[in-house]
Amino acid sequence: MADTMNGRTIIVTGAGGNIGLAYCDALVKQGANLVMADLVDLSPQADKYRSGGGSAIAVRVDVADNDSTQAMAQAAVQAFGRIDGIINNAGFFKNCTFGSFMDIPAEEWDRCFAINVRGLWQCCKAVVPQMKEQGSGKIVNISSNTPYKGIPNFLHYVSSKAAIVGLSRSLAREVGPFNIQVNTLCPDLIPDADIEAKQGSQADIRTVAGRCLQRTQTPQDMVGAALFLLSDGSDFITGQSLLVNGGAHFL
Ligand SMILES: NC(=O)c1ccc[n+]([C@@H]2O[C@H](COP(=O)([O-])OP(=O)(O)OC[C@H]3O[C@@H](n4cnc5c(N)ncnc54)[C@H](O)[C@@H]3O)[C@@H](O)[C@H]2O)c1
Repeated sequence: MADTMNGRTIIVTGAGGNIGLAYCDALVKQGANLVMADLVDLSPQADKYRSGGGSAIAVRVDVADNDSTQAMAQAAVQAFGRIDGIINNAGFFKNCTFGSFMDIPAEEWDRCFAINVRGLWQCCKAVVPQMKEQGSGKIVNISSNTPYKGIPNFLHYVSSKAAIVGLSRSLAREVGPFNIQVNTLCPDLIPDADIEAKQGSQADIRTVAGRCLQRTQTPQDMVGAALFLLSDGSDFITGQSLLVNGGAHFL
């Protein structure tokens, strides 16, 4: 799959996270013009990519702020002249509190939806006009396996990720006539140090036990599916959700 992203401008939101960085590494390796968009400043990482011969810029964005997402899209066009794809990966996840649905603070529910649902919609609004002008574009929305499993004590997060599936299917119909594909990726638990500190290592052990492929999922496990949905190979695929979960059988 060498150079399938050659010369394509791809935005990754939440680029500074564990999984975001895995997408970025692969995109740079494949010759994309990468826009690393995050709340935090990722200039040092973009510099590193450039000094290794890659093409990347860093843009500060708060996806929950509409003006900020518009500025993100403008920065991409200013730097590279076009927007070929976006991975809407920024998410309110690790700051979600676990507990009964009765006890979720309303402000936390709203923050979760402001980032995961409204923020993702705002990013789509920011990039679609440019994609329409070009006559093509690929939107890859990061949902989660949790709506399919029905994870308890995490209702705001699970509901927000379910909303992304509905949003993507409906948006696919609105933008299909402009040759813009909208698909959703649903990762299973991809543990890192923050998640283990919060949930303990038992969570991953239980998750692995409920999979056909009996191992821990890594950020790199998401990369092939994401690149496929950004590539020409997926030109006739839209409105779909792909569960990248090692064959979780929902024990
Ligand atoms: N890690 C998992 O187990 C898992 C499983 C399923 C789905 N997901 C989803 O995958 C995505 C990435 O997860 P992760 O584990 O890498 O998370 P992470 O918390 O490590 O990274 C998220 C990144 O998004 C950025 N971000 C947060 N709020 C933002 C905002 N308002 N605007 C712009 N950037 C913002 C953060 O700065 C961070 O760099 C999320 O959408 C998450 O819901 C993760």
